[in-house]
Amino acid sequence: MANTQQEPRTVLLLGASRGIGLGLVEEYLGRGWRVIATQRSLTVAPALCELSARAEGALTILTADVSRQDDIAAISRRLEGIALDLLFVVAGVSDDPNQTIGQISTEEFNHLMVTNALSPLRAIEQLAQHVRADGSIAVMTSALGSISANTTGGYETYRASKAALNMLLRSYAARAGGERSLLALMPGWVKTDMGGPDALVEVKDSTAGLANTIAKHAGQPGLVFVDYQDSAIPW
Ligand SMILES: NC(=O)c1ccc[n+]([C@@H]2O[C@H](COP(=O)([O-])OP(=O)(O)OC[C@H]3O[C@@H](n4cnc5c(N)ncnc54)[C@H](OP(=O)(O)O)[C@@H]3O)[C@@H](O)[C@H]2O)c1
Repeated sequence: MANTQQEPRTVLLLGASRGIGLGLVEEYLGRGWRVIATQRSLTVAPALCELSARAEGALTILTADVSRQDDIAAISRRLEGIALDLLFVVAGVSDDPNQTIGQISTEEFNHLMVTNALSPLRAIEQLAQHVRADGSIAVMTSALGSISANTTGGYETYRASKAALNMLLRSYAARAGGERSLLALMPGWVKTDMGGPDALVEVKDSTAGLANTIAKHAGQPGLVFVDYQDSAIPW
């Protein structure tokens, strides 16, 4: 079913307790969308609480660890009867950028790979049924996930996890993309807990750019790997 444009659009943001995910909640509420935002903790993050108090019912907060299939199944049940215009998997983790593949523990390697690559695609597999046939599906990747642009090294496992995410999304696009717009998005180097205080981009500039970029590609079938200013990134 296509959106007739008369009803508010609806976005599901997975991983919205802080950082860019939280910023996207504010951005989409500001654009008049209905926002369904997930966080891991059972206690609602204070910033989400504040947004909810101002949202006049437009914000729904659900609990989910993206790596738990039961949690995603529960989200799917909550979405019965709701048509999403956008499904956006934002959650992600990083490790020490200087840690080499020879140093990382198997446990930490698995944690990065499961959170950053496996879980977003599993969530998409489980939740795509709720996205309109001409809707959009996005994942938060990184320019560090570009294989061809890796000339400097560093962030070895994080890069590998985002490259795996990109590849899995390409496979999904080839197999099940249909009429939807699929986006592998780079938010910029953003001032968050992950990006750190020296990052070049403010959360509000990243999220406005991401929302504009998603809007620009809406209704265009196929997969793109672009940053928050809609500049193409080599795979
Ligand atoms: N910041 C940058 O410069 C930058 C650059 C490129 C790409 N990215 C990507 O952008 C995304 C958001 O990054 P950020 O900078 O906002 O990071 P952040 O400030 O560290 O926030 C990470 C978010 O992911 C959530 N999360 C982590 N693991 C999760 C899980 N298993 N289930 C549910 N939520 C989980 C966290 O929830 P909790 O609060 O529960 O921990 C938090 O909301 C990530 O995918 C990251 O790789 C960021």
